[in-house]
Amino acid sequence: MHDNPFRPGFGISPPMLAGRDALLDEWREVFALGAWSPYRAALVTGMRGVGKTVLLNAVEDEARARGWTVLHGTLHAGLVDTLERDRLPALLQETDPEAFTREVTGLTVSQVGGVTTAVAQRYEREPRLESMLTRLVELAEARGAGVLVSLDEVAKESLEALRRIAIAVQHLLREDRRIAVVAAGVPASIAAALDADGLTFFRRAQQVRLDTLTLAESRAAIAEPVRSRGRSIGEAALEQAARASRGYPYLVQSIGARAWEHAPEAHEITTDAVRHAVEVAFAAMGESVIVPALRGLSARDRDYLIAMAEDDGPASTTAVAERMGVSAGNAGKQRLRLLDGGIVLAPERGLVDFAIPLMREHLRAHPHDGQLGLPTAARETFRD
Ligand SMILES: Nc1ncnc2c1ncn2[C@@H]1O[C@H](COP(=O)(O)OP(=O)(O)O)[C@@H](O)[C@H]1O
Ligand SMILES: [Mg+2]
Repeated sequence: MHDNPFRPGFGISPPMLAGRDALLDEWREVFALGAWSPYRAALVTGMRGVGKTVLLNAVEDEARARGWTVLHGTLHAGLVDTLERDRLPALLQETDPEAFTREVTGLTVSQVGGVTTAVAQRYEREPRLESMLTRLVELAEARGAGVLVSLDEVAKESLEALRRIAIAVQHLLREDRRIAVVAAGVPASIAAALDADGLTFFRRAQQVRLDTLTLAESRAAIAEPVRSRGRSIGEAALEQAARASRGYPYLVQSIGARAWEHAPEAHEITTDAVRHAVEVAFAAMGESVIVPALRGLSARDRDYLIAMAEDDGPASTTAVAERMGVSAGNAGKQRLRLLDGGIVLAPERGLVDFAIPLMREHLRAHPHDGQLGLPTAARETFRD
């Protein structure tokens, strides 16, 4: 009866997607008219937990609501293969079974196995991704719609897959076909994609930098789901929960979920429930967000963060370099890498601050967490 509406986690759409309506309007325009809009090709970037994946989900929903076909993929080295073998044939069949059947007649289907294989073979000698995508666009256009290609988790390791997909999409965009593309990744990965050969097309794409939520948006993201499920939350409790989230969407859900389940039978969520929820949500941040974010960093990057953590607020870049015992120029390299990684931000010239809530506190309490994954002395004893 009191099903928890909140969705702490990654990639799971929240009960209320706060603060993204104006952005979604841009995409609604793309799908409604098929008129040219810069959002036809867009790159979404932001730190871990800010809501990139759920924004993509919402964009995909908008596309489907307008009858568009959605080709979604999470980037990995084998993505092109997966698209050619499974996703595209399945979508082609779904979109227009008749056209699909016509396409494969003339082939001895029984010899080559399943229909999927037949389609794969049919496109064997041409770049299959291009021809299948073109066909999908043709079918969508015939219905007065188009195709959205949605790519999540752009990463340095999978730029080749991204490049191959980008070529196919770019080709269709140039011909002014009804196709749109949106790709998401953390700032460092998007920066790498923008630098890579063969991906110059993305440099002209619309850049969407996702920010944390405002206080009012955080309040709405917590209050609205509570009220729509028939419970209430007092003003003081709501304020306390929203402020504690610092607008970080992951924390909004995490605090909301725990406040909801503190006394699930009570009608009202009290300040007491929120106090408890914040404590539990904060404690969980380390494992769910901070440690994973630290894991990809070098020892030097971590040193930079530990030096920053000595300050209670934004740190001066000069002071950080001094604490590290290196020149300002040397520390500048770490600073840039951390900025690109979405780990720190520069609130103003000469200052750096943590981008992810509670990272400062976490590093003070566990300065060695960034080293997880390196062999420890204890693990060494298991070697034979
Ligand atoms: N605009 C938003 N309003 C409320 N909750 C959100 C919003 N955006 C994201 N969330 C929540 O934050 C968490 C992280 O979102 P996710 O899209 O997985 O982040 P990312 O892909 O950027 O790492 C999820 O629990 C999600 O439900
Ligand atoms: Mg994500």
